[in-house]
Amino acid sequence: MSVMEHSHLLTPGWPDDGTVDERAPGLVTLVGAGPGDPELLTLKAVKALQAARLVLYDHLVSPAVLDFLPPDADRVYVGKESSCHTLPQASIIELMIRLARSGRAVLRLKGGDGYIFGRGGEEAQALVKAGVPFTVVPGLTAAQGAAASVGIPLTHRDHACSLVLTTGHLRDNTGLDMDWPMLARSRQTVVLYMGVSNLPEICRQLVAHGLPGDTPAALVEKATLPDERCITGTLADLPALAVAHGVKPPALIMVGGVVSLRAQLMPGTGAAAHRGDRTPAHALA
Ligand SMILES: C[S@@+](CC[C@H](N)C(=O)[O-])C[C@H]1O[C@@H](n2cnc3c(N)ncnc32)[C@H](O)[C@@H]1O
Repeated sequence: MSVMEHSHLLTPGWPDDGTVDERAPGLVTLVGAGPGDPELLTLKAVKALQAARLVLYDHLVSPAVLDFLPPDADRVYVGKESSCHTLPQASIIELMIRLARSGRAVLRLKGGDGYIFGRGGEEAQALVKAGVPFTVVPGLTAAQGAAASVGIPLTHRDHACSLVLTTGHLRDNTGLDMDWPMLARSRQTVVLYMGVSNLPEICRQLVAHGLPGDTPAALVEKATLPDERCITGTLADLPALAVAHGVKPPALIMVGGVVSLRAQLMPGTGAAAHRGDRTPAHALA
């Protein structure tokens, strides 16, 4: 269901039409829905979904996760695909607060973890300011789901003693003003969210700031979902591989020595695109 099917929820002034609403505000539960595979939801998230009466959910929440909702729960899609926002963020916040102030409990459902590139922090700040009670249920972030699913540990004593999660898409897309010397450090893993359209520039800058062109790098598209793909290469050839394989968001860019471990941990997957089958070949032998 889309916001359009819930136009009464979006009417300015709804639900009180100017009258003072004296009810205590409902609780907002900010829930991370994980990277896609519903088996990766936390138990707390499942319980919150099963008890929900009204949910505002984002673009990256997979349909299989929504299946945990009671059939008669009100579902409002407020999704966001980059540059294609169903509702602007300010309107999402306004709607969430208005609904809570009407006395309704609101489940705010976001892909991955709400506090990792999910604007959960902004929404929590707005709830505090509005005096609306809230609670936060974490979710597995896409990097964790991808790591387990494609066989790329995020840290490993032989390859990476630090991990950086960063975004490859800056607010208002004002150019990639990033801390390249920090990102190009050796013995670290860098995972970039929202970076597919800037992949050539990202790889170019990392090499320009000192990482060798043969540094292992991967793209993981639709991690943990049945049509997941993982493409591995190096900083030098990943942009061309991305074009050749038609990689599209949602996808993560993973950079660092840990990417080379995939060949050992998932033998048989090679350097090419790997679709679907997430069972390591050795587990079947
Ligand atoms: C707005 S951020 C949301 C991140 C989310 N809060 C999290 O913790 O994973 C959206 C970006 O997350 C990444 N992403 C989310 N789910 C993904 C998935 N299943 N596979 C690959 N990347 C994913 C992509 O880079 C996508 O462009």
